[in-house]
Amino acid sequence: MVRYDFCRALARDAGKLAHTAFGTSAVSLKGRHDVVTEMDRKVERFIRAALAKRFPDDAIIGEEDGGTSGERLWLIDPIDGTANYARGLPRYCVSIGYVERGVPLLGVIYDPSHDWLYSAAKGDGAWLDGRRLAVSDAADIGRATVECGWSTRRPAQAYVDLLARVMHAGAAIRRAGSGALGLADVAAGRAEAYAELHINAWDCAAGIVLVTEAGGFVSDFFAGDGVRSGNPLIATNAALAGKLAEIVGVPIVR
Ligand code: IPD
Repeated sequence: MVRYDFCRALARDAGKLAHTAFGTSAVSLKGRHDVVTEMDRKVERFIRAALAKRFPDDAIIGEEDGGTSGERLWLIDPIDGTANYARGLPRYCVSIGYVERGVPLLGVIYDPSHDWLYSAAKGDGAWLDGRRLAVSDAADIGRATVECGWSTRRPAQAYVDLLARVMHAGAAIRRAGSGALGLADVAAGRAEAYAELHINAWDCAAGIVLVTEAGGFVSDFFAGDGVRSGNPLIATNAALAGKLAEIVGVPIVR
């Protein structure tokens, strides 16, 4: 619980720092439709320095500065939803996940625009500040909302095909630009599912703990080289897991 308490406070401090340049931080491109701001780098340095000082033997992998894996591993995204952040759209967050010997144990997501702190520790439930979170119990795909994450890391046609399959199954779709907050929405029952054909570990490590601790199910993101290279991801409730796995083409662990 030392790490849990520490990273909850750290995520909040990091988010407050990020918010000082909300919509104004200098922007550059890492790739096509892949933006980074000066503040992404600054916040990552801030988080890394704090973790390295408090837990010097832990490994850290972050979106901006990379890193190498280890038995005790922090996965950090200083600003998830950077494109929103850069344009002054209030949907972005700081995401900090902690994995020990391959098992995701802690997830903390701080949404500075709402001052919302999501947190989960394995076996201790998922929380939004003082409120316990639970995934939606909707069992009918025809009444479900599925957020379909997108990046240029997969071909446009693959994404269009995914949207078509989700929509033909009868679900409503959403794409709001932050994988971490998309997963927090599933944990909070604000969406029935999140699906992405490729997502990186720093975007989803924290959200995976939130969803599972809120009673949901996820695909085996950490399979193979997921930590370093990313993987597809589905997160949803028990009732829709089979249907979603079929639609996306990725099994869900139950
Ligand atoms: C991206 C967002 C987006 C998701 C992408 C991520 P970034 O992260 O989370 O919603 O679909 O896979 O790369 O660039 O905003 O940190």
